[in-house]
Amino acid sequence: MLLESAIAQLRAQVAAWRNQGDTVVLVPTMGNLHAGHYALIERARKLGTRVVASIFVNPSQFGPSEDFAAYPRTLDHDAAGLAAHGCDLLFHPGIDEVYPYGVERAVTVAVPELGDILCGAFRPGHFNGVATVVLRLLNMVQPDVAVFGQKDYQQLLVIERVVRDMQVAVRIESAPTVREDSGLAMSSRNQYLSDAERERAAELHRCLQWMTAQLRSGQVVVAIEAEATARLGAAGFKVDYVAVRRASDLMPVENFEPGARVVLVAARIGKARLIDNLLI
Ligand code: PAJ
Repeated sequence: MLLESAIAQLRAQVAAWRNQGDTVVLVPTMGNLHAGHYALIERARKLGTRVVASIFVNPSQFGPSEDFAAYPRTLDHDAAGLAAHGCDLLFHPGIDEVYPYGVERAVTVAVPELGDILCGAFRPGHFNGVATVVLRLLNMVQPDVAVFGQKDYQQLLVIERVVRDMQVAVRIESAPTVREDSGLAMSSRNQYLSDAERERAAELHRCLQWMTAQLRSGQVVVAIEAEATARLGAAGFKVDYVAVRRASDLMPVENFEPGARVVLVAARIGKARLIDNLLI
């Protein structure tokens, strides 16, 4: 596996691959990789002939009181894992490469409405930071395809919106959420959990399954949301939101409305803020 931190070298390598007929697939990450990330690498390998992963802990998507400084950085371990999973190139840019004018003065991408609801309401500016860095990474690598996890469902929709609205020539693909045996969605932030908290955190997934069953049996949305919030509160979570939404744009849904839905939750336990969702 190649390791690059400079855009010029990265671009030269990608161009060389494309000249020989390769299809390039990008998997953007913030590192501290786990089985969920590696599932994206596996999916990327099926979607093209060359896989590029990026690792960059993006300061602009963290709020002032969030865990940017504490976010786990495990580059050597990640590089070994990526190589073992058949990644061709790890792009690991420095902050000056990604934000040549500095983070404070960076040109930014705002995503109205979709970026302001749910997690966007609890983490103001978060999705603007995500949109801004993903657009930069897509411009740096210029892949044919980029792969994102359904685990971060709102993020996936935000990125699809950016790509469509900004006419970026890339295809966005997604991959299902990888879970631990308990049902807990894998996340770099699960490391912040004690053993007891980790056990309790599995309640998030059970709650989403319960909500799905309630929805299928015709229970009204507001009642489901209220009871799920109470259940999680009783299990020791501080709930940011529990919501049943339209899958296409995350807007509220009426019970009788046709079309796909998604149930989403964001809740804090101990030092961790966890999110999860299920598509219906
Ligand atoms: P990060 O949290 O490292 O996640 C990188 C990618 O892995 C995202 O597409 C995310 O949805 C996916 N992922 C994380 N946990 C997963 C799981 N359990 N199952 C399946 N996929 C999973 O998301 C980010 O980084 C950043 O916001 C980024 C897009 C890189 C922009 O900075």
